[in-house]
Amino acid sequence: MDGLHAPASLALGIVPRKAPALDIASIPRFWFDNDPFKTRFFDALSLLFPEGEKFFIACVRDYRANITDPELQQQVKDFIYQEGQHGALHTAFNDRLKAQGVQVDRILAKQRTIMFDGFRGKLPKRYTLGQTAAAEHITAIMAHRFTHSDVFASAHPVARALFAWHAVEEIEHKAVAFDVLRTVAKGNWLIRAGSMLQVSVTFPLHVVLLMNHLLKLDGVLPNPQVWKDGRRWLLGAEGLLRPMLRDYLDYYRFGFHPNNHGNLAKIQRWREEFAEHGDARLATDRTLHG
Ligand SMILES: [Fe+2]
Ligand SMILES: [Fe+2]
Repeated sequence: MDGLHAPASLALGIVPRKAPALDIASIPRFWFDNDPFKTRFFDALSLLFPEGEKFFIACVRDYRANITDPELQQQVKDFIYQEGQHGALHTAFNDRLKAQGVQVDRILAKQRTIMFDGFRGKLPKRYTLGQTAAAEHITAIMAHRFTHSDVFASAHPVARALFAWHAVEEIEHKAVAFDVLRTVAKGNWLIRAGSMLQVSVTFPLHVVLLMNHLLKLDGVLPNPQVWKDGRRWLLGAEGLLRPMLRDYLDYYRFGFHPNNHGNLAKIQRWREEFAEHGDARLATDRTLHG
């Protein structure tokens, strides 16, 4: 059991935590297994997070005034807080990339143009909320996958604590954008499925383009073997992302709801550990890699 296909679980509460204190500067350049490909996969995700999270917040906020359910109102408030904290700590993480010569500001400016001028400037609000719910689903199934495998065992403990904290909170708030789309924006299946199809193309495309850019800077590209081996690590039969396929496809089912997915046992242990001593690194080491 990899944790992805466990029986349905109850939703966790959303805890609005301040971003944990982590010694981001101590993370080495190739922090994942001393492997440029693995490192740059997660670096590319991190590069996309701060602007992506601002976009998600804006798209959920579009409907905030129309929410009458006080419970959902509170969840939206906590969702916005959590995403804001993620953006702050990933910005600190991304500042490391600047020191490596990566033109982070230019990359983020381009991303802002696509998401805010392109998507939010030209598409209906209900659709951009659909994009948000779709991205939140992809993020949540990645979070379930990363916290229920030993994939991060060979990663630097500070970097994996950052991704583990983010993963826990993504799982806590994974249904919020979906519930606003479904109950407030009245987004139907076509909006949900159509936006997911589009996000399923544009999000991985962005990741691949960024990885290509970063790996070129590292001097490990052009070398076809790098992508060949990396593809096997990510998408091969035993690959990191392969077990997510079933949960990804579930999103297209009529009766789908995010809270019917995923094993929460390790997540609950992480939450308890963190609540006790407030140390994300210790919580991650004890519960996810102990
Ligand atoms: Fe986030
Ligand atoms: Fe999120």
